[in-house]
Amino acid sequence: KTCILIGAPVDSGKRRAGCLMGPDAYRTAGLGRAIESLGHKVIDQGNLRPATHERDTNDGLVFARNETIGWTNRLIRAAEEAMTEGLPIFLGGDHSLSLGSVVGVANHAAKEGRPQFVLWLDAHTDFHTPATSDSGNLHGTPVGYFTGRPDFAGFPEVANPVPQENVCMIGLRSVDTPERLALEASDIHRHDMRDIDENGIAGPLSAFLQRVKDANGMLHVSLDVDFLDPSVAPAVGTTVPGGATVREGHLVCEMLHDSGLMTSLDLVELNPFLDERGRTAHLMVDLCASALGRRVFDRPTRSYQ
Ligand code: ARG
Ligand code: MN
Ligand code: MN
Ligand code: MN
Repeated sequence: KTCILIGAPVDSGKRRAGCLMGPDAYRTAGLGRAIESLGHKVIDQGNLRPATHERDTNDGLVFARNETIGWTNRLIRAAEEAMTEGLPIFLGGDHSLSLGSVVGVANHAAKEGRPQFVLWLDAHTDFHTPATSDSGNLHGTPVGYFTGRPDFAGFPEVANPVPQENVCMIGLRSVDTPERLALEASDIHRHDMRDIDENGIAGPLSAFLQRVKDANGMLHVSLDVDFLDPSVAPAVGTTVPGGATVREGHLVCEMLHDSGLMTSLDLVELNPFLDERGRTAHLMVDLCASALGRRVFDRPTRSYQ
């Protein structure tokens, strides 16, 4: 495979700063080398900047709307271009980057005449619109945007919304009431931590992967650091206790590799300012390596002292 690393130091999706350091933390933690060691080609495009946009006044509830619009425009283009060259890996940056990455890859899938699927690995559903969000933080809105919910005035038009039934969320444990009500009225597949505790993570994931395969779909995977338990992945602003374990994370990624279905990937919400000696960045690199073919018996032991 050719993996295209796209640095997207998006920090406009919420008020707490730090995700802008994410792309360089992944590089420092050895992401490129890890992928190359698996036999893939790596092209690192460096870090993007947002397209030109109006200045934000931040006098309303929604935070940094114009900057996020600039990023969305830039990332749609970057995703469309990278999809013709290989497997893009978007190095975030907060989760608002997925407003652009997912819409861009879905445009590409539409051109190929194939359906787009999205696997959302997150504590949160990020299904708000700017009108329903009570925080005004746009990192809580990407799924609302790419599935075609209204009230995204000023954002680029979503030419190819991802059908609700093609979205599968795993890891959920923090959902706001307006999101819950909208989700319950939707066809989005959702698996909260209670579901994982009772039934395991492999069952729902393999059912989803089978649907992608049967439809000859493209599969975008969006991995939010807070999918993982904060005890193993502390470097994120929105920690929620009770998350996925290291093994659950690896199992998901190993199954993704075995399926051969993943066509694009986001690594989002890493805030290196909150990390402990790089352990969260290293874990995200290890998970990405599992998704690209590293097997348990190949995994080097890493010590963090
Ligand atoms: N639901 C909350 C909000 O809208 C939290 C969203 C967290 N999203 C994330 N990508 N970490 O503000
Ligand atoms: Mn998220
Ligand atoms: Mn989250
Ligand atoms: Mn399901």
